[in-house]
Amino acid sequence: MNVNRFTSLCFAAFTVRWIVSRTIENRPIWDRTMFKKLFGKKPEPQVELVPSGRKFAVARNKTVLEQALEIGLPYPHDCTVGTCGSCRSRLLSGRVDAITPFGYTLSREELQAGYILACQAIPESDLRIEVELPDAEDVPVSVGGRIVDIQDLTHDIRKVTWQLDAPLRFKAGQYMNVRWPAGPGHRSYSFCHAPSPEGSLRVSAFVRRVPGGAFTDSLFAGEFADTEFTVDGAHGGFWLRPGDGPILLVGGGSGLSPLMSLLEDAAARNVRRDVVLLFGGRGERDLYCLDEIAGIAARWDARFQFRPVLSEEQVEGVRHGLVTQEIADAIAELGGAPGLQAYMCGPPPMIDAAVASLTAQGVALDAIHYDKFTDASTRVAQ
Ligand SMILES: Cc1cc2nc3c(=O)[nH]c(=O)nc-3n(C[C@H](O)[C@H](O)[C@H](O)COP(=O)(O)OP(=O)(O)OC[C@H]3O[C@@H](n4cnc5c(N)ncnc54)[C@H](O)[C@@H]3O)c2cc1C
Ligand code: FES
Repeated sequence: MNVNRFTSLCFAAFTVRWIVSRTIENRPIWDRTMFKKLFGKKPEPQVELVPSGRKFAVARNKTVLEQALEIGLPYPHDCTVGTCGSCRSRLLSGRVDAITPFGYTLSREELQAGYILACQAIPESDLRIEVELPDAEDVPVSVGGRIVDIQDLTHDIRKVTWQLDAPLRFKAGQYMNVRWPAGPGHRSYSFCHAPSPEGSLRVSAFVRRVPGGAFTDSLFAGEFADTEFTVDGAHGGFWLRPGDGPILLVGGGSGLSPLMSLLEDAAARNVRRDVVLLFGGRGERDLYCLDEIAGIAARWDARFQFRPVLSEEQVEGVRHGLVTQEIADAIAELGGAPGLQAYMCGPPPMIDAAVASLTAQGVALDAIHYDKFTDASTRVAQ
C-alpha cells in the first residue's frame, strides 16, 4: 500500500468514527465551539504575581516585564535586555520561552531553583511568579545633576559625588543610573553612603576605571566638569532584609560601594547582627576605606569581622587567594547557614563563584542578594 492510499484510509476511518460517536452522544456533527477550539485565537496567558496577588493577561509575543510595565505595575527592572538581573523572579508554576537564555545572567543554582528573567520570558501557559514589587514611593524618578567632587580612593577607584536638582530617595544598597549628553547610554553606580529619609541632594558612588570605558575614561580624564547629567533611581533589590540572623558581605573592587551604604545605614539603625565582611583585591594598593570600616566596626553592636583577601600579592597578616574561597570559613564562623543572609557586589565571575559556594554550604537562594557590576563588554559577550 502506498503512503497516499494509507493516509486516505486513516482519514476515512477517523471521519466514520467521529460521526458515529457524535451520533451516539446525540450531539451535532459540527458546532461553533469546535470551530473556535480548532481555529480560534488561543486565550492570552494569565500571570499571577505572588505575594502581591496582582493578576494580568500577557498579549501574544510580549514578555512578562513588557506587559507588567504597560499596565503600570512597578515590576523591578533596569536593562530590559537580560544582563542586569534586576527582573530576576521565581517561576512557581507554568512554562515560559526565553528570548535569550537566562543562563547568561542567572547561575546554575538559580536556574535549578526556577528563577527566570521577566524581561526575557514569554509565557507559554498561565504563570504564577514570585517577585517583590516596590512600594509606590520607591518607584524610580529622574533628576538633573552635576559632578561636584571627585576623590582618589585607590590607583583605579574614585569616589564621585553628584549634586542633584531635587532629592533622590533610595534604600541603602541600591543604585542610580546616570546619563550624559554625549554618552552611549546609561551607566549604573551604587550609592556608597546611607540614605536620608527625606531624600539626598548629594549622592556618591565608588567608581572603578575600566580602560576603554565610555564613562570612566572621560571621568578619569577630567572631562565632566560642566556636564549636565540625568540621574535616575533608585534601582535594584539589593538592600538589607529584616531578620536577626548573621550577615555575610562579599565585595570586590568598587563593589564595596553598596556594602558601605548598607553597613553605614545598619550601624546608624543599631542593627545587632553578627557580620563578616570579605573584600577581594589583587594587592595591598586595592584596599581602601579601611578607616571607615574600622569606624563602623567600633560602633557595631554585635560581632564585626573585616577580612581583606588578596589574590596576587602576599602580605603578612592578610589572607591570600580568591575572596570566594573564604566563604565556607566565614559561614562556619557565623554559626552556619540557617538564618544567614548574604549580600554581594562586584564583577560577574566573582558573584557566580560566590553563589555556587554559598549554596554548596546550604545557604538558601532567597537569602542571597547581589548586584553584578556588568558593563558594555558583558553585554557584547552574550
Ligand atoms: C547594577 C549595577 C551597579 C553598578 N555599580 C557600580 C559601582 O558602584 N561602581 C562601579 O565602578 N561600577 C558599577 N557598575 C558598572 C558600571 O555601571 C559601568 O558598567 C562601568 O563603570 C563601566 O562603564 P564605562 O562606561 O566606563 O565602560 P563601558 O563603555 O561600559 O565599557 C566597558 C568595557 O567594555 C568595552 N566595550 C565597550 N563597548 C564594547 C563592545 N561593543 N564590544 C566589546 N567591548 C566593548 C570597553 O572597551 C571597556 O573595556 C555597576 C553596574 C551595574 C549593572
Ligand atoms: S531588566 Fe531583566 S535582566 Fe535587566
